[in-house]
Amino acid sequence: MRFEPLKYEHLAQMAEIEQEAFDTPWTKAMFIPELYSAEAFYTVGVRGDEVICYGGFHKVLDEGHITNIAVKHTERGRGIGKFLLATLISKAREVGVEHMTLEVNVNNAPAIHLYESYGFKGAGIRKKYYNNRDDALIMWLDV
Ligand SMILES: CC(C)(COP(=O)(O)OP(=O)(O)OC[C@H]1O[C@@H](n2cnc3c(N)ncnc32)[C@H](O)[C@@H]1OP(=O)(O)O)[C@@H](O)C(=O)NCCC(=O)NCCS
Repeated sequence: MRFEPLKYEHLAQMAEIEQEAFDTPWTKAMFIPELYSAEAFYTVGVRGDEVICYGGFHKVLDEGHITNIAVKHTERGRGIGKFLLATLISKAREVGVEHMTLEVNVNNAPAIHLYESYGFKGAGIRKKYYNNRDDALIMWLDV
């Protein structure tokens, strides 16, 4: 697997992964502005032409707001999520981010474990953030 910056050719497969990964998935159209934004930093893990994982953040002053992180269903549990997150944190550091933040569904134990293993700490709850039902845990990391 190699990591590449986001390209238009990745978007259809990313939208498929979004569908299997999230209740409110991003569509291909929602990713298009990310291709052109100077503040959006994405990395996509590919094997041949197959998208395996992707993640991104928006740089807002010295903060990096993680927008998406996902690993294709069939590839989970093999350390790819860890590798992806490490790659994102290192990119964030490179572009001057000092603090990273994200929201994660309070019921998403795998993702919360992943973030905690890199030092992210819970710092509040957004009530009914997902589908007006599940709460979001807000997490922060000093990069
Ligand atoms: C969260 C996600 C990106 C993790 O990717 P992954 O490649 O499966 O993760 P890894 O194999 O690198 O595992 C990383 C850590 O996650 C945790 N983890 C992974 N699968 C887990 C599971 N089923 N239950 C509990 N913890 C789990 C573990 O802490 C693991 O660390 P360890 O190996 O030291 O125990 C992946 O499950 C995914 O794409 N989920 C759907 C999308 C999503 O929820 N994204 C996050 C939105 S905020």
